[in-house]
Amino acid sequence: MRMLWCSAALRLAFLLPTIGTSAPSPPTELFSPLVAEKVLRTALSPPTPAQYPQYTDRAAGDWLYFAPDTWTSGFFPATLYALHARAQLCRWPAANAAQWLALGRRWSAAEVPLAADNTVGHDVGFLSYPFVAELAVNPHNATAITAVNRFASDLAARFNPVVGCTRSWDTPNPVDFEVIIDNMMNLEVLFVSASLTGNKTLQNIAISHANKTMQNHVRPDGSSFHVVEYNATTGDVIARFTAQGYSNSSTWSRGQAWGIYGFSNSTSPTLSLYMHTQHPDYLTTARRMASYFLTHLPSDGIVPWDFNAPLTPPRPADSSAAMAAVNGLILLSQQERSLSPPNITGSTYYLNAAIQLLGVNTKLAWRPAWQSLLANGTVNNPEGNNLTGIVYGDYFFVQAGNELVSMGLMSC
Ligand SMILES: *[C@@H]1O[C@H](CO)[C@@H](O)[C@H](O)[C@H]1NC(C)=O
Ligand SMILES: *[C@@H]1O[C@H](CO)[C@@H](O)[C@H](O)[C@H]1NC(C)=O
Ligand SMILES: *[C@@H]1O[C@H](CO)[C@@H](O)[C@H](O)[C@H]1NC(C)=O
Ligand SMILES: *[C@@H]1O[C@H](CO)[C@@H](O)[C@H](O)[C@H]1NC(C)=O
Ligand SMILES: *[C@@H]1O[C@H](CO)[C@@H](O)[C@H](O)[C@H]1NC(C)=O
Ligand SMILES: *[C@@H]1O[C@H](CO)[C@@H](O)[C@H](O)[C@H]1NC(C)=O
Ligand SMILES: *[C@@H]1O[C@H](CO)[C@@H](O)[C@H](O)[C@H]1NC(C)=O
Ligand SMILES: *[C@@H]1O[C@H](CO)[C@@H](O)[C@H](O)[C@H]1NC(C)=O
Ligand SMILES: *[C@@H]1O[C@H](CO)[C@@H](O)[C@H](O)[C@H]1NC(C)=O
Repeated sequence: MRMLWCSAALRLAFLLPTIGTSAPSPPTELFSPLVAEKVLRTALSPPTPAQYPQYTDRAAGDWLYFAPDTWTSGFFPATLYALHARAQLCRWPAANAAQWLALGRRWSAAEVPLAADNTVGHDVGFLSYPFVAELAVNPHNATAITAVNRFASDLAARFNPVVGCTRSWDTPNPVDFEVIIDNMMNLEVLFVSASLTGNKTLQNIAISHANKTMQNHVRPDGSSFHVVEYNATTGDVIARFTAQGYSNSSTWSRGQAWGIYGFSNSTSPTLSLYMHTQHPDYLTTARRMASYFLTHLPSDGIVPWDFNAPLTPPRPADSSAAMAAVNGLILLSQQERSLSPPNITGSTYYLNAAIQLLGVNTKLAWRPAWQSLLANGTVNNPEGNNLTGIVYGDYFFVQAGNELVSMGLMSC
């Protein structure tokens, strides 16, 4: 049963070689009116002073709010920009689109000072999301340009050329240089800033980091370690272990999803800079990580918080890992299609897998009565934080819907 997706999807792929025709139907919840209604309700009641939703309580599903200087604070404003993009994709009335944009901008304001000073370490990449989204709307917005460039230089300042990586976490002993798989998600800000400024150093830092992560975080079977600790003086690997997973040798599902997304994104030919950096090993790594994820799902297709966590008591799901993986698989599907000649079989396989994963995990986690769109997220199981809604799960859920509409695979 572990081969749930593979056998069926590959068989279909051979029969129906064009994208879209063989895809299972995406879940209708993606475009439920509740998506805009719930996000709007949260957006129209911002706390004062500014705070950002991160995850919900477990009973009522009400958002818990955190100070701007928190790694997750970019996701809610980025969700508002995603709904602005959706308003355009779906041809919602212009006034509605304008409202989403205004809300995205308003909710970004308290993040602007973070570009000068923050304590999120490598997660400046996540903080940059709303500013990158603003630049897609208005490429001349000087506030957004400055924010992206400053976040990128923060991350670049964490680069150690001996190790070849940007430091993820600060440690009491600075010789212990900790890099987490999540850091793959934060490299994009370096590419965006490189494209704004022409500074190739930023791009090289990102590539070096991706190279090292590919070598040291990914196991031979395509699974991943959460943390790799390097010796900052020699660049040697000192230890490989977990922080949020079940054990040092297990695979934490959200980390695996970040890896799929990060390596699929790093091969993207749609960003002009990547044209020069396209690197077949990234594609291979993304495929291996995706394959591990898909072939280690339980037979019900629900993403557990860790692939190796014991089955009793029942392992909590992580819908945020599912949604990040869905977006990573869609990117990977697009990569396969952009090869020359296009790899239609691979592309269709990952797309079908993404849509199935999306359907099953949405069915589990969709909660009309909660403030979040989805429940069944695991923020940090070793800390007992499971069974919640999570702001990045919701963000990637909205993004998946937008992406599928953009690809012509569903209508609004
Ligand atoms: C420019 O972007 C910032 C941050 O993204 C936003 O808060 C601001 O409203 C935008 N300014 C204009 C004039 O659109
Ligand atoms: C390019 O970025 C690097 C890393 O932030 C920085 O050290 C360097 O000064 C930048 N180069 C230019 C010409 O701005
Ligand atoms: C990344 O790895 C590729 C191939 O292994 C190599 O060609 C490239 O020089 C490396 N880049 C950096 C910055 O480490
Ligand atoms: C790191 O490398 C230096 C230089 O070889 C060595 O003195 C130090 O003990 C190493 N630290 C660890 C934690 O491996
Ligand atoms: C996991 O790895 C860390 C770092 O090497 C180590 O301190 C810890 O003892 C390991 N845990 C187990 C259960 O082996
Ligand atoms: C890569 O990831 C970044 C950050 O999420 C996003 O802005 C960018 O659009 C992604 N690239 C592609 C091709 O999706
Ligand atoms: C999903 O969440 C509900 C509570 O919201 C919980 O009862 C159920 O056990 C969770 N399922 C999984 C697989 O985590
Ligand atoms: C197409 O993609 C599949 C899945 O990643 C892969 O196994 C296969 O080798 C790819 N084929 C080509 C010709 O690249
Ligand atoms: C979920 O979190 C609770 C604490 O909130 C913890 O007691 C429980 O062990 C966790 N569930 C599992 C199966 O790990």
